[in-house]
Order: sequence, then C-alpha cells, then structure tokens
Amino acid sequence: MASVRVFNVFIRQLNAKTNFSVFAFSVSSKHSSKCNVSNIVPEGNDRTFASTLLRPVFAYSSLPLHAHTFATMSSIERVVDLRSDTLTAPTDAMRKAMAEAEVGDDVHREDPTVNRLQSLAAELCGKEDALFVPTGTMGNLLCVFGHCFERGSEVMLGNSSHLYLREQGGVAQWGGVYMNALPNRKDGTFSLDDVRSKFHDGKDFHESKTSLIAIENTMNGRILPMDFIKELRQLANELNVPIHMDGARLLNAAVGLNVPVSSITQYVDSVSICLSKSLGAPVGSVIVGSKQFIARTRRIRTALGGAMRQSGVIAAAGILALTDMVKRLHIDHENAKTFAKGIIQYSPQYINFDVDEIETNMVWFDVNTKLPTYEGRNPAQEFCYRMANRYNDDDVVVKMSKFFGVSVRCVFYNGVSQAHVKLALEKFHSVMKAWISESNF
Ligand SMILES: Cc1ncc(COP(=O)(O)O)c(C=O)c1O
Repeated sequence: MASVRVFNVFIRQLNAKTNFSVFAFSVSSKHSSKCNVSNIVPEGNDRTFASTLLRPVFAYSSLPLHAHTFATMSSIERVVDLRSDTLTAPTDAMRKAMAEAEVGDDVHREDPTVNRLQSLAAELCGKEDALFVPTGTMGNLLCVFGHCFERGSEVMLGNSSHLYLREQGGVAQWGGVYMNALPNRKDGTFSLDDVRSKFHDGKDFHESKTSLIAIENTMNGRILPMDFIKELRQLANELNVPIHMDGARLLNAAVGLNVPVSSITQYVDSVSICLSKSLGAPVGSVIVGSKQFIARTRRIRTALGGAMRQSGVIAAAGILALTDMVKRLHIDHENAKTFAKGIIQYSPQYINFDVDEIETNMVWFDVNTKLPTYEGRNPAQEFCYRMANRYNDDDVVVKMSKFFGVSVRCVFYNGVSQAHVKLALEKFHSVMKAWISESNF
C-alpha cells in the first residue's frame, strides 16, 4: 500500500506539472491487466518524457501494480477506449495456455497446438483443412492468391470492403491481381445484377478474368443477410467462380444470428477468421478451405514469410479464442445496443443512424450537424475530439474512431464493461449539452 501511495502522490504531481492531454490508461473490467509505464502515459513525446520519469517509481514501488489500483486515483482520467476490438488484451487463461503450450516446428507440421487449432477451425467451418497465419491481411492475401493463381486474374469485391480499402491493395501490389470493385450497400451486400454484368469470363482477351468473388462478414458490424449469401452462391456456381469470405468477425455474425458457423461458411469456398479482434488472442488468423486449396496457400505463406516455427505458443490463445471467448461475444453485442440506444435517445437530431442496424459489436453513426466546429475539424472530428478531451472537472475520456466523411465508429469488446458503457453515455450527454449550448451564442 505504501508504494501505491507514493505512486499516487507522484502521479498527482506529474499531472499538475505537465500538460498531458490524455493518459492512455485502460481500466480493465476484470481488473487484471498489468499496469506499466506505456499504458498510463500518452503517446508521443509526452510518453517518452513520462516514461523516463515514471520508470524509477515503478522500480521502487515493487510492482506488479494492477489497473484497479489506479482506478481510484482522482487525478487520472477514466478512459473508455472504443476505437477497435483489436485492443482486446489476452485473458489470464490465454496467457496460462500460452505459457504451457506444447510446441514443435510448425514448418514441418510438428507443432501439436497449431495442428489442434487448425483442426478446430476446419471443423467449426465444415471445411477439409485450415492454416494458421499471422494476420487477417495475410489470410486474405493468401486466399485471394490461392484462388487467383493465373496471370490476369481478377477478384470481384465490394468497394467498402477491408480487402479493397484497407490492405494497401496488397493483392495487386504483391500478386498482380486486379480488383473489380462493386458498389457496396450499407448492409455489406452488393447487387447480383452488378456481379452478372461486370463479370469477366476471360473469353475477351481485352479483359481480366474474374477468378474470385470476395465478401466480408460482418462488414462494419452488419451481418451479411443469409439470403444474399445463398443467392450469390447460386450465381457463382452458374458463373463457375469461387467465393472467399473475409470473416475477420465471422463469429460475431454467427453469434448475432444464433447459428453454427458452418451454416454460413457452407456457401463459400474459403474463409479467413481473425483470432485477434473480439476473440481476444494477441495475434493470428486462420484460413479454411479444401485440402487442395490449403496446400496451395501453405506454399504461398512460405513465400510471403508467414511460415512460423514454435507458433503453438500463440495458437494456444487461438484455441481459447474459438472455444471460450466466442461464448461471451453476445455481451459485446448487448453493450453496443445499449450504447446506441443511449445516444440516439439523447440526440436524434445530431446523430444519424438506425438502432436496428446495430447487429453485433459495432456502432457506426454520422455526426451530421451544424453545431460549431473549430480548428478546421469537421463535425465528426469535433465530436471525437470533445469525447476524448476533458471539460472542467469531468475526468472521463472516451476514444472513438473517425472514419470516412462524418462517420464515427465505436467498438465493444472484452475490456469494455457495462460500467464503461455507462461512463461513455454520461460523457456523451455532457459533450452534447456543452456543444449545443455553444450554438446558442
Ligand atoms: C474486416 C477485416 N478484415 C481483415 C482485417 C485485417 O486484419 P489484420 O489487422 O489482422 O491484418 C481487418 C482488420 O481490422 C478487418 O477489420
């Protein structure tokens, strides 16, 4: 306790003497995340400065200190970080499983834990085989290359998809695969008439050859309608082209629909699932498909530098992601809904979205307002800025992501509890009240 008191005093002094705008301090719902210098000080120069100052305090005060120790400290902001579910920290059970994982050289397929994870993923999706890969981006790349292996190949995909917008066009950059982007609707679907009319069968030598159709589920938190997936499958059969699903958050979709994962994946040829988002593993994705397809992607994984050795250490967390963490995803969905209802009730004229569109762990809305903005910020930037900064004696910091135009994204995951949702709503109310009052001057 004495060391905590020393730390309290030190932090108060530090806070008074410096101009930290945000302490990147996360209050874990389970109160179990170890606290270190890097997660209680801001990023950038301030972090370097504060790290230097804080290091001796940590050393002196015989750590480990835990997050809940600091939750009671009045001088530090309470932070609710809704930027992304990639912020999910591995659970204690995952850390234990990682420490105890049985391992081997996975390049020789001798890592029993990786093999177990792969079998589990294949079984979950009702496919023949699976491959453990470092990231979702590599998973998507491998799946596209696994299907588009002829020169002049094309992947047809939605123009709001992660694969199209947020992977640096890697499929073109590394594999020379052309992306034929179709307009996405808000629910993640695209027009099947577009698929038909923009499909290139490769007979005209002026055109690339459509060798794959890629869809994303969930997309921006929306669950792809099953009818769309089924109809797309029928069309793809007719056109003789495979379908890949970027299922970074596929388990959220399955939980949202309350159906087995395989009832969705039966309609596609390959899937990439991220273990490191709301499923909480520190790293890794799995891709699934036929034996022949996975054999092809295994070769390409080596070429891309993604073949790993004793990767059972991280696969152990992946196993818990697919077996245990999936059981709690509904909590994130409920928290997202509670938050969405809370903000729409308070400010329907400033925040635009439909609560019924909140289907999983994300809340997206437009801040479409004539309320005053400053320093060149658009309304969404102004809103996020206000949420992430303190007013008067308000000590709550709520971080959100600003995306395209005036869109804001909030994501709910393990580590964002009901108490955090309440705090975030309180902050929202105080921000909107102050902001609206400024427009009256
Ligand atoms: C839908 C989707 N696909 C793929 C990825 C890429 O995953 P990773 O960050 O592991 O490369 C992301 C990452 O946020 C994603 O949201």
